[in-house]
Amino acid sequence: MDRWQTIIEPFRIHSVEPIRLTTEGERQAALERAGYNLFNLHADDVIIDLLTDSGTGAMSRDQWAAVQRGDESYAGSPSWYRFLESVQRLFPFKHVIPTHQGRAAEKILFSVLGGAGKVVPNNAHFDTTRANVEFTGAEAVDVSPVRDPHEMLPFKGDADVDALERLISERGRERVPVVFMTVTNNSMGGQPVSMANLRAVRDVCDRYELPLFLDACRFAENAWFIKTLEPGYGDKPIPEIVHEMASLADGMTMSAKKDGLANIGGWLAMNDDTLAESCRNMLILTEGFPTYGGLAGRDLEAIAQGLEEVVDEDYLRYRIESTSYLGTALDASGVPVVMPIGGHAVYLDARALLPHVNPLAYPGQSLAVALYRAGGIRGVEIGTVMFGRHPDGSESPAPMDLVRLAIPRRTYTQSHVDYVIEVVRWVAARAASLTGYRIVDEPRQLRHFTARFVPLAP
Ligand code: F0G
Repeated sequence: MDRWQTIIEPFRIHSVEPIRLTTEGERQAALERAGYNLFNLHADDVIIDLLTDSGTGAMSRDQWAAVQRGDESYAGSPSWYRFLESVQRLFPFKHVIPTHQGRAAEKILFSVLGGAGKVVPNNAHFDTTRANVEFTGAEAVDVSPVRDPHEMLPFKGDADVDALERLISERGRERVPVVFMTVTNNSMGGQPVSMANLRAVRDVCDRYELPLFLDACRFAENAWFIKTLEPGYGDKPIPEIVHEMASLADGMTMSAKKDGLANIGGWLAMNDDTLAESCRNMLILTEGFPTYGGLAGRDLEAIAQGLEEVVDEDYLRYRIESTSYLGTALDASGVPVVMPIGGHAVYLDARALLPHVNPLAYPGQSLAVALYRAGGIRGVEIGTVMFGRHPDGSESPAPMDLVRLAIPRRTYTQSHVDYVIEVVRWVAARAASLTGYRIVDEPRQLRHFTARFVPLAP
């Protein structure tokens, strides 16, 4: 394929889902019903749904065939053994504990390891990870270097190793139950972590005798970036790179809704026998018996097959290039986006695009609503709506006001993406006319899911 510039979808369509094409008037009415919160929309009213890449991908013919093979035995199902083998082929941890999704794995692990006075470092906590750490009374600390959102660096997901070491030595190693690395780094822009950085973090963990865990939701995308960007990895097969990442860690949490290519599922894995026993006890309380966790046999099968497909190089090249295709086109037309483009999403810099909207009038919300109204595209605000309200009731601007356009796996074609590019450009050209928003109703926590808004007068 090397001769040709066009990177095609390495699959053809076998079963289709209709997209209902709506008018701008219908979308305005839907916005009013939803209180201008895109989480409140009926998904049938969305044309291109880029809310998340989690659980929204298309399964393959072979995954649907595997679903048929699902064995629902309560204990010791053959589907469990297929799942176990396929997880351990990539991540050779001794204990694998299946859960219904990533946050269930987090909940179990931090219930065992967390608690008041503890500190959990992570290159960047995803919001459910942070919430699960904090729920136990422990503190979740990000050790990412502060970076300009537009600065071009190949491995912008890396942790700040000096900051990690400072944190451990200042707080005391006995207060740090585990060090986490999130690959790819969702909060930073879906950007990868280098093997060199993982190795440096491992060295710190060795020096302080601390376990290192991966939040490995997007491990295959991370491995592809290592293969293509990190010296020495160009000729290594993806499964070997994944193995090497796993060999630097003592365990992992996983959401199979991302690089498991499944619609539901996850797991927790580790080498430590005592920790595994405590986690399994929690699993039985909250998820299910250790050979199915929170999953049906058919889900275990879908994940087992998905893990074989996700490390395919033709798939990964298409995946990373198609995300980059969207981001690069927007960047080239002057739309401010977080650079470089990450693996699963493009992040629009709403604060830069809407400098006339005060952060406390939610430029990210304004841009997300405008993209939906203009073209039926649903992204998600990651900014002051999501992070601006504090436990003491006060409100302040988040560090950035972004709109994430996350790309479901194997779901949209290039013409869908071309349409997104056209709509974003159109909205960006009219950014000066967009107004801010005011919240009229919000819950005490996690307000972004249910808050209702009204537009401010121009
Ligand atoms: N860790 C990371 C890095 C994630 O991105 C997510 C989910 C989770 C953990 C939790 O996994 O959803 O299966 O419970 N991220 C989704 C997103 C929801 O839209 O980024 P889960």
